[in-house]
Amino acid sequence: INIALFFGGRSAEHEVSLLSARSIYNAFSKEKYEISPVAISKKGFFHSLEESKKILLGDKNKVPELDRENILDLKVLKVLEEKIDLVFPVLHGPYGEDGKIQGFLDTLNIKYVGCDLLSSAVGMDKAVMKEIFSYHNIPQSKFKVLKKEEFKNQNTLEIYNKFVEDLKVPFFIKPANMGSSIGINIVKELSSFKAALSEAFKYDNKIIIESNVKGREIESAVIGKADNIEVSAAGEIISTHDFYDYQAKYEDQSTELIIPAEISNKSKEIIKELSIRAFKAIGAEGISRLDFFVNENENMILVNEINTMPGFTKFSMYPLLFKEVGISYMELLDRLVNIALT
Ligand code: DAL
Ligand code: MG
Repeated sequence: INIALFFGGRSAEHEVSLLSARSIYNAFSKEKYEISPVAISKKGFFHSLEESKKILLGDKNKVPELDRENILDLKVLKVLEEKIDLVFPVLHGPYGEDGKIQGFLDTLNIKYVGCDLLSSAVGMDKAVMKEIFSYHNIPQSKFKVLKKEEFKNQNTLEIYNKFVEDLKVPFFIKPANMGSSIGINIVKELSSFKAALSEAFKYDNKIIIESNVKGREIESAVIGKADNIEVSAAGEIISTHDFYDYQAKYEDQSTELIIPAEISNKSKEIIKELSIRAFKAIGAEGISRLDFFVNENENMILVNEINTMPGFTKFSMYPLLFKEVGISYMELLDRLVNIALT
């Protein structure tokens, strides 16, 4: 089976993608699969296959830029069209996890691993995701949406007071479209509100403001499609940060993953059920990781979000949660490929 492994890409999660792709490339059985890496730079340039392989097997944390006008090596397109059975878009964040690359592949009539255009787009846009979850009565934290142009026409103090009234302090400010907690800040007073807004608006013209729920951070992993959906064990993240931010995710060695999470069997059941409901609500297919806030004293289990291309290094939650239930990293790859091909 010939697989093109897309990695890097235009989003702020470029570096994370490179790490996920390196692990995936190394784990694919070379007997069963021929893997052609395709490196995409931060500006969106596609490297040649020879160059892409060197980049993936190297140790740089970024795909180098290409000094040319045309964004796509036409030879790459030709290989995709003639030789590739499917693409594994190991791309996190906008222009990779948000349906854009999926739509591009649909247009070329090329199969790919994971969610389709629409479910990827819904999963990436936290405002739309939360609206869909609301519609399906999936429990979640209270939130508001603010667009840049609306914000420009309003008085900051007035908006702040409104959010405090609706959501109480502290609350979270997040870019609607982003991942790995990039651009997310917790707001405790007016001065941090202004800073948080400008930070979030760096990444998207739409942001969400979300109430801060006091709960443990629990995650689950999902694989499958249609009526054959499997949910992993649940895992907990223990971080010393205010919340599970970028640093805690990728840089802080003291962040702990506890697998399986030490929660009641009842909570585990609810998490499984909510995982499937949320997965189906956005129309997901193949892969997703669900993030929850759990407070057992208050009988509270809220879905925080769905990630349609979760971090996929050997040390990432997604594969570790499945390892716990006896599904190895390699088997996950086999299954994801099979799901995409059938
Ligand atoms: N957005 C990162 C890659 C994750 O959810 O794991
Ligand atoms: Mg996310």
